[in-house]
Amino acid sequence: MLFPSIYQKKALFLSMAMSLVLFGCSQTTPSAQVEPDTQSTTAAETAKTTSKEDSTLKNLQAAYNGESNAHLMYLAYAKKAEEEGYKGAASLFKAAARAEEIHRDNHAKVIKEMGGTPENNLKTPEVKSTKENLENAVKGETYERQEMYPEFIKEAEKEGKKDAVETFTYASDAEAQHAQLYKQALEDMDNWKVSKDLYVCPVSGATTITDKQNNCATTDGTKKPLEKVS
Ligand SMILES: [Fe+2]
Ligand SMILES: [Fe+2]
Repeated sequence: MLFPSIYQKKALFLSMAMSLVLFGCSQTTPSAQVEPDTQSTTAAETAKTTSKEDSTLKNLQAAYNGESNAHLMYLAYAKKAEEEGYKGAASLFKAAARAEEIHRDNHAKVIKEMGGTPENNLKTPEVKSTKENLENAVKGETYERQEMYPEFIKEAEKEGKKDAVETFTYASDAEAQHAQLYKQALEDMDNWKVSKDLYVCPVSGATTITDKQNNCATTDGTKKPLEKVS
């Protein structure tokens, strides 16, 4: 009776060991193979979709944020210019603030058309003397005109996003005018103590010191009246 009993125990032990091995295999092997594959495929597809479809949308969001903050900054600079007796410079800052507001809203419209939600991060502007504010404004406008918008336009053209190309081009052209006007003010600040009238196109934000600009037209060719800013 002793021999069968040991044999039975060994058989039981072997049977349990085999069950554990089989149980272990059936638990670990499939999950270890399936999970990484599923995750890596999904991540790769997501990255591919994001980089392909979202770069113009991302650029629009960056531009929307920049224009939103520029609008606030120029309003604060206008207040400072008034306090310092630069009435003409105050009008210039107000006109540029209106133009940036137009750019902001144009960008927001295209973001929405593309299925996005315009998002900005508004910051309290740092206000210095009018001379320093003009210098800072030249720097910002020059960057937008020479680096930021040309890059955004190139990308949007490549992706065939016509409405984005249009809103970026409107802004880029107006930033060149702003940079030029701010430089003029810096070169002869006394002249900008005198009151001045500026004119802003509500379609493109084009900003001039005469009411003769001829580029304030909608895409269907109808002209819009210029807004006078004093
Ligand atoms: Fe702008
Ligand atoms: Fe500007």
